[in-house]
Amino acid sequence: MEIKNISVIGGGTMGNGIAHVFAMKGFNVNLVETSEQLYSRAFITISQNLDRQVKKTSITESEKNAILKRINKVISIENIPINSDLVVEAIFENKEAKLSIFSRLDKLLKPDSIIASNTSSISITELAASCRPDKFIGMHFMNPVPVMRLIEIIRGYSTSEATYITIKELSQKLDKIPVEVFDYPGFISNRILIPMINEAIFALMEGVASKEDVDKVMKLGMNHPMGPLELADFIGLDICLAIMEVLYNGYNDSKYRPCPLLKKMVAANKLGRKTGEGFYRY
Ligand code: NAI
Repeated sequence: MEIKNISVIGGGTMGNGIAHVFAMKGFNVNLVETSEQLYSRAFITISQNLDRQVKKTSITESEKNAILKRINKVISIENIPINSDLVVEAIFENKEAKLSIFSRLDKLLKPDSIIASNTSSISITELAASCRPDKFIGMHFMNPVPVMRLIEIIRGYSTSEATYITIKELSQKLDKIPVEVFDYPGFISNRILIPMINEAIFALMEGVASKEDVDKVMKLGMNHPMGPLELADFIGLDICLAIMEVLYNGYNDSKYRPCPLLKKMVAANKLGRKTGEGFYRY
């Protein structure tokens, strides 16, 4: 199926980036948020990120305006255009919330629409159960979406070959590099990345080194562009905790237990950049 009309649900950290890259590649994008205020916040973020690209001369001012014109405002999923060929869901990492959106979408969309979730870790097979399993797939973009080239494409148990091929080819049209992954907790990226971040938080909690030094060791010693604590702030500590819990419950293995300091910081709403404070202040 040729994908022309795209809807993105959620305009937060990931959703606004996903809308940005689709609009940049010429697609019409319906960006769905829950209120006017949250939609405006997402639209302003996209506009500011495009301004940065204009400054770097990677796009012109008139291209920027054309990209913004391709983004349409939708408040509430009840108003999602029925003819969306693809819906990419990017709401917060909560299984029940996602399931309730998917069962509603199944009734609102035309029968051949593909539904993709940007979930970081929740089982694609379980999410698919509330709607059309053969047309359901994981499309896991990386943060920041306009910059990072990888898309992990996750096949649920019943994802059809046609759905997989459509999403793989679409990812290539976005100038991204798709990697095929099967549906196990954390997929590949977060099964490896988040336990490393969790271990860095344990090291900090146990006083092995200061936060700056934990980050310095991984940057200078392992050539990581960001230290794990800095990266946790960037991803969002709530998201890191949610992923650790999915790994812990999914594998029933104590090696995935979330660090108590991570839990405490999430309870204190110190979620990282998005709340102005995490391991560092912003
Ligand atoms: P976020 O909290 O920044 O944004 C979520 C957005 O969804 C909010 O703006 C909220 O208003 C909106 N929303 C919630 N319910 C909605 C509904 N019913 N209709 C429309 N909009 C709704 O979350 P973030 O970080 O963007 O994460 C989104 C998803 O992407 C999660 O599943 C997360 O695990 C995944 N992800 C996150 C990454 C990260 O680095 N933050 C990286 C890759 C995937």
